[in-house]
Amino acid sequence: MANTTVKTFRIQRFNPDKDSAPQWAEFKLACSPMERVLTALNRIKWEQDGSVSYRRSCGHAVCGSCGMTIQGASRLACKTLVKDIPGDVIEVAPLKGFPVVKDLVVDMEHFFHKYQAIKPYFINTSPAPVKERYQSPDDQAHIDDPAKCILCGCCTSSCPSFWKNEGYLGPASLLKAWRFVADTRDEAGAERIDIVNGENGLWRCHLIFNCMEACPKEIDIPAALSKLKRATIWGGTR
Ligand code: SF4
Ligand code: SF4
Ligand code: FES
Repeated sequence: MANTTVKTFRIQRFNPDKDSAPQWAEFKLACSPMERVLTALNRIKWEQDGSVSYRRSCGHAVCGSCGMTIQGASRLACKTLVKDIPGDVIEVAPLKGFPVVKDLVVDMEHFFHKYQAIKPYFINTSPAPVKERYQSPDDQAHIDDPAKCILCGCCTSSCPSFWKNEGYLGPASLLKAWRFVADTRDEAGAERIDIVNGENGLWRCHLIFNCMEACPKEIDIPAALSKLKRATIWGGTR
């Protein structure tokens, strides 16, 4: 292959059936600069060691499965190119702050419990109109950004408040709460505000901005959380 360089992938391995602690394993691979880290992991698994474990599905930054720590930062393996990582060694570890199931696979159960806690679905008990629940382009514009979330967990795993307190709802759930609070067709905003206003909610966010840097969808999470804070104190969504 033209323009390839040999890279060393340092992958954090952990098999709970055998290992008492995680350890690093190294794999050498000739990669092109435009190759995705996910493709490299696939080649390592298919050509060198079939026991290397990680999640992936779509390969196109849509499903949110392949969040992991690449060179110290939470990223999607399918959206990170080899050329994005300077140097010859590419270090890959599981998402920080999540319990490890095996190698790069983390347990997302708590993450999804917190997501469910904010009622991440449309609630409207008014009789349905004949045609549709109208939403203006301006109203839609308020939820466009938060609605891009693919629930990869990269933001939550980068958040120092989450590292300190695993009970914290975390940026992904809070962002989703805002997505529905700001939706003019939804009627359960007050219920969700009560939930995010609790001990492990919104006020644990100190606007450190790690979440925004980690988000593969470039969602302005701190801006959304600031609006949610304003709505919690003063009401309204604009
Ligand atoms: S801005 Fe808030 S949610 Fe985002 S990383 Fe910082 S503390 Fe966490
Ligand atoms: S807000 Fe961004 S980083 Fe967080 S879960 Fe959604 S897509 Fe992933
Ligand atoms: S494999 Fe679906 S987001 Fe990366």
